[in-house]
Amino acid sequence: MHTAMEATFVSVVGARPNFMKLAPVARALAARSRTRHIVVHTGQHSDPSMSAVFFKDLGLAPPHHSLDVGSGSHAQQTATVMYRLEPLLQAIRPAWALVYGDVNSTVAASLTAVKLGIRVAHVEAGLRSRDRSMPEEINRIITDHTADLLLAPSSDAVENLKAEGAPDSRIRLVGNVMIDSLRDALPKALATETPRAFGLKNGNYAVVTLHRPSNVDDPARLQSLMAALGDVSRSLPTVFPVHPRTRAHLRRNTPSTAQSLRLIEPLGYQRMLSLIANARVVITDSGGVQEETSYLGVPCLTVRESTERPITCTLGTNILAPDPAVLAARVNECLATPRRPPPTIPLWDGHAGDRIVDALMSATSSRGPI
Ligand code: UD1
Repeated sequence: MHTAMEATFVSVVGARPNFMKLAPVARALAARSRTRHIVVHTGQHSDPSMSAVFFKDLGLAPPHHSLDVGSGSHAQQTATVMYRLEPLLQAIRPAWALVYGDVNSTVAASLTAVKLGIRVAHVEAGLRSRDRSMPEEINRIITDHTADLLLAPSSDAVENLKAEGAPDSRIRLVGNVMIDSLRDALPKALATETPRAFGLKNGNYAVVTLHRPSNVDDPARLQSLMAALGDVSRSLPTVFPVHPRTRAHLRRNTPSTAQSLRLIEPLGYQRMLSLIANARVVITDSGGVQEETSYLGVPCLTVRESTERPITCTLGTNILAPDPAVLAARVNECLATPRRPPPTIPLWDGHAGDRIVDALMSATSSRGPI
């Protein structure tokens, strides 16, 4: 039996970068009385190495519901989440639907909930790359324009929301929830000694992650990136946990790969964190990795023209490096630059999950429209 005062929250997650944002919110909600939290996994990512290992590493209970949508075109994936989520939300009728980040599951869940009259809170609202060719940018814009509560990680995100006309009453600056997970997991992550397991010396190797369609879907682009990584690996041992999307394109196009470049399976949260924390330099096109390296003070080269996380360039360690032809030279510049202590970034303090739940509780008790 649930008391009349109990508030039900449904979190909808589906893809790898959602899980580290869910964990701190789940923990903060569990610590409050008169709350019920139901987790729905859309199944956008289903490989154990992309999903189950993250639930385990983050101490998350298995999801209450799985929609098993799997892969597909953007329209298929988004529509299937909506179609399967609608009856579930109708049955649960939560006070809030919580959506995370910028993946297809995020936009699908927010559209479904808002049209059922269920209030939507967007965790990581307001990020903008201003690159509309990125599917994530479209997902961010639509999610922010449908959500009732916009939980922003940084002041630039707040400014973006205001510039698009979001009323102040909907916006809360809560900080970076992914850093909550990082701080929590770091001791366990370091204890895995993952670099040693791969024969790498702390502070003397590069880690690579690449999975954006703009980098891996075009065979010529992927070929030139693999050649650049081959060059990097000749001066610095280089390890590359390969995302399934990238793996599929590598199989299809079989670009030549330098012997010294080590391609490995995707890693779980703790082992990946261990690898990143001890790296000399990280080369990535991931959003989350730009933040993790900035927090840890590890130099990061982002293989993209733009970033939706500009604070990682202004205050953090991130440098945009979209051109494969000069990637190895950029790595050498990093090697020649003495490491600086990790920066302090406002509200990257491990308490974003609590601030998110505070914002939700006060918006819930206010009842009417925000
Ligand atoms: C999605 C997100 C992206 C995020 C990334 C993190 C969107 C639009 N994109 O991209 O923002 O950075 O997740 O990983 O939502 N695959 C598997 N098993 C899995 C997952 C994926 O085999 O568990 C393969 C499938 O072939 C699939 C492809 O990877 O077609 C792409 O997966 P998808 O979820 O469509 O997009 P991502 O590239 O993972």
